[in-house]
Amino acid sequence: MGEHFHVLKGIALVRERVIGVPKLDSVLRQAFRLAASAKAPGHLSLWSRTIASMTISQTKSEANEPPTPASTNPPSPAKRRKLTGRAFYESLGSPKMILAPMVDQSEFAWRMLTRSFMSPEASKDLLAYTPMIHSRMFTETPKFRDHHFQPTRSGLATPPRSDLEKPTADLYLDGHPEIDRPLFVQFCANEPDALLEAARYVEPFCDAIDLNLGCPQGIAKRGNYGAFLQEDWDLIYKLINKLHLNLDIPVTAKMRILESKEKTLEYAQMVLSAGASVITVHGRLRDQKGHKTGLADWSVLRYLRERLPHDTVIFANGNVLRHEDIYKCLEETRADGVMSAEGNLHDPTIFAKPPNIGSEGREYWRGRSGKGGYRMDAVFRRYMDILYQYVLEKPPPKRSPLFLPSDPPVEDPRTTLNGSASEDTEGQPPTKKQKRDNKQQRTTSPNLLAMQPHLFHLLRPLVATHHHIRDALGKSRAGDIAAFENVLHMVETAVKEGLLDYEADPAKYDNTDLPNAQEQAEDPSKDESSVATVRACRRPWWVCQPYVRPLLKEALAKGSLTMSKKDKRRAEEEAVSERRRLEEEEEEEADKRLIGNPMRELGEMTERESVDDDDGLGRREMPKQSMVCG
Ligand SMILES: Cc1cc2nc3c(=O)[nH]c(=O)nc-3n(C[C@H](O)[C@H](O)[C@H](O)COP(=O)(O)O)c2cc1C
Repeated sequence: MGEHFHVLKGIALVRERVIGVPKLDSVLRQAFRLAASAKAPGHLSLWSRTIASMTISQTKSEANEPPTPASTNPPSPAKRRKLTGRAFYESLGSPKMILAPMVDQSEFAWRMLTRSFMSPEASKDLLAYTPMIHSRMFTETPKFRDHHFQPTRSGLATPPRSDLEKPTADLYLDGHPEIDRPLFVQFCANEPDALLEAARYVEPFCDAIDLNLGCPQGIAKRGNYGAFLQEDWDLIYKLINKLHLNLDIPVTAKMRILESKEKTLEYAQMVLSAGASVITVHGRLRDQKGHKTGLADWSVLRYLRERLPHDTVIFANGNVLRHEDIYKCLEETRADGVMSAEGNLHDPTIFAKPPNIGSEGREYWRGRSGKGGYRMDAVFRRYMDILYQYVLEKPPPKRSPLFLPSDPPVEDPRTTLNGSASEDTEGQPPTKKQKRDNKQQRTTSPNLLAMQPHLFHLLRPLVATHHHIRDALGKSRAGDIAAFENVLHMVETAVKEGLLDYEADPAKYDNTDLPNAQEQAEDPSKDESSVATVRACRRPWWVCQPYVRPLLKEALAKGSLTMSKKDKRRAEEEAVSERRRLEEEEEEEADKRLIGNPMRELGEMTERESVDDDDGLGRREMPKQSMVCG
């Protein structure tokens, strides 16, 4: 009888998995009663067959049912027919713009801000990823879940299915069916079962689960995940295949290129054969990180595109700093979509088409040359208002219209919080009371914790010249909304001054507003130095703009990168041996004087937590660059 019990349990489990209805208990109870009352083994198998056919026919008929019309509950992926590959991608509206997964930085509010710049017609064109979440920690620790994924107010205390039944009123932020889709949730993992368990928690609130195969950080090396799984294809296959076979939504993967095109192709084929519906290919090698980031190689992506079947959906990643780069990348790689991370952090409007000339409104600034971008004060305001509306769930403060130089002069009314003037902390050290309040306001909300780093990215060129704003932002603690409101006010004032200054003497800004800057950088992605790209991207300091990372040799030359003692020693030793080698060579071939560059071979380096002098930030401490996990 025990054997039959297991058969029946298996059938009931299959039934539950396929159609997602947890009637396991009643099916089992019924089966068990029947099995227990049976007199002969023949009866047992008869009953098990009957129940099996009953279960399977129900499964079939329920699976063929049309999807349930929208109800008060979130759509149940379990009841949708599972699409994979291109059919799945098309069902999302074939998005071309992809907001990258970014640890601590692609959280709900930032995704909303990014989405907010897309026109209603283009909104389906943007797909967003959550930050990478550690799958094992997610399954083991309720607090960790609460701090990383907040689809409901009541949290994710119990695994999956019961969440499907939660009423709409309980829906909160992540993966909200009306405002935060399409959404892929990214996990890192090295245990297929833990990955599946983690995925089941979030399955009802997203469109696909993505596996991180690109994180190059030391923490990923120690934890054996991300790009450090590259050596274990068998494990990668198992991780992807586990989700492919067991989830009701598709699985996707984000990988880096390998040392050769051929190897990368083989790798991608393996990932696809395991069941990945979409692959994102970051065109950099695992050790291209930090100041060694360099340029992504789009030619490898094109190579994959030409050799993988048409049904394969590929997202290209790397070298996308500006809106126009998206189209260049689509054209060169023939990928289905283009993902941007750093470009989006510095300019969250990157995916949106700029407004037509004459329809700039107050938020978009255009210079004499016709080039422009969204104003930082406008983007900052939108960001704050999204936080009020969705995260804090209270109305944003009443704001006066953004300043335009053409406005009639009015007294500058101080932006207020709930009607009362917020405390002005301009450059002042916090008082004891403020410190106490800050402590009380300590938050675990991923959306509030991300604010300061986001604003440093967004305002980079502005704080480079407005040190009092940099200092005030540096002192704004997570959760202290009044402090951020104060920074916003300071930014609005600065932008107003900038706009007036431009009107008074536009020529002063010519180096940031060059009519032919873009033409001079015909193909910045292939340039040996970053100078042309910097020129093409630069805008006046009040306009959102990409940050162009200096290439390694430039960072060394500028002194913004220093070597650790170990590396210095190694470089010195290399320099000595290189000198000897050169001397020997010179003796042998006096006419072949090769100038060796030991710097090229530098190993690990330490990056000073400072930014370049010409940024105006001197050697000030800045918040550490967030972790780049892909
Ligand atoms: C702050 C930051 C955090 C990142 N976190 C993740 C992550 O969680 N998962 C991931 O796959 N990649 C992560 N990445 C890598 C990006 O998704 C992307 O692959 C990489 O930055 C290259 O794209 P880009 O040239 O557009 O910046 C992160 C990058 C940045 C800048």
